[in-house]
Amino acid sequence: MSTIPLNLQTDAVELPAPSLSPSIALEQALKKRRSWRSFLPDPLSLKLLSAMLWAGFGMNRPETGGRTAPSAHNWQEIDVYAVLPEGAFRYEPRGHRLALVKAEDLRKDTGTQDFVATAPLNLVYVANFSRMPDARPAEREFLAGADAGCIAQNVYLFCACVGLATVVRGLIDRQRLSAALGLGPTERVALAQSVGRAGAA
Ligand SMILES: Cc1cc2nc3c(=O)[nH]c(=O)nc-3n(C[C@H](O)[C@H](O)[C@H](O)COP(=O)(O)O)c2cc1C
Repeated sequence: MSTIPLNLQTDAVELPAPSLSPSIALEQALKKRRSWRSFLPDPLSLKLLSAMLWAGFGMNRPETGGRTAPSAHNWQEIDVYAVLPEGAFRYEPRGHRLALVKAEDLRKDTGTQDFVATAPLNLVYVANFSRMPDARPAEREFLAGADAGCIAQNVYLFCACVGLATVVRGLIDRQRLSAALGLGPTERVALAQSVGRAGAA
């Protein structure tokens, strides 16, 4: 079974409307939030992926372009990549869709820990410094890292709500992952995050 019904004509995946119901109370989600490092290979449904991406860094105020996670100066410099067995995709929040980046399984390139190669989904948070025009070079990485962290926490809470396992990751060979994703000179990998159903502890 595959998560992604890819339209090979357009290289795009239209995501279903995000729905977070039924959902649990914030207090319960906070009690359940934790990191997990063992994942079953079972694919996630497109419905779950859709809701997760929206929760992570979707558009919650289309009239102003506002997002579910804050960002310094509202630069919105983080692009969220979904690295799945079917390929790597960039999330486009305005259309709530995925654009195909590479039709290859790049999961093993998303981190240095063994489980990343088999987790059904690895999110990668990529900062595009060209969207941070006024940031001093010394500050750019801190601010982009903080912005990526806000998205990661949204995903943690989403996972706690729907009973998925997740771990945010900084242990990444950034050169290797940048090359695999074909990132440009102004783009930097900030963090990655594995998601799936919990495997053995
Ligand atoms: C910025 C950041 C980077 C992290 N990098 C990794 C990582 O590369 N690999 C990993 O297994 N866990 C990573 N973690 C998860 C932490 O190890 C984890 O949050 C911590 O041990 C506390 O456990 P908890 O999340 O279950 O409360 C990272 C967490 C943060 C916030």
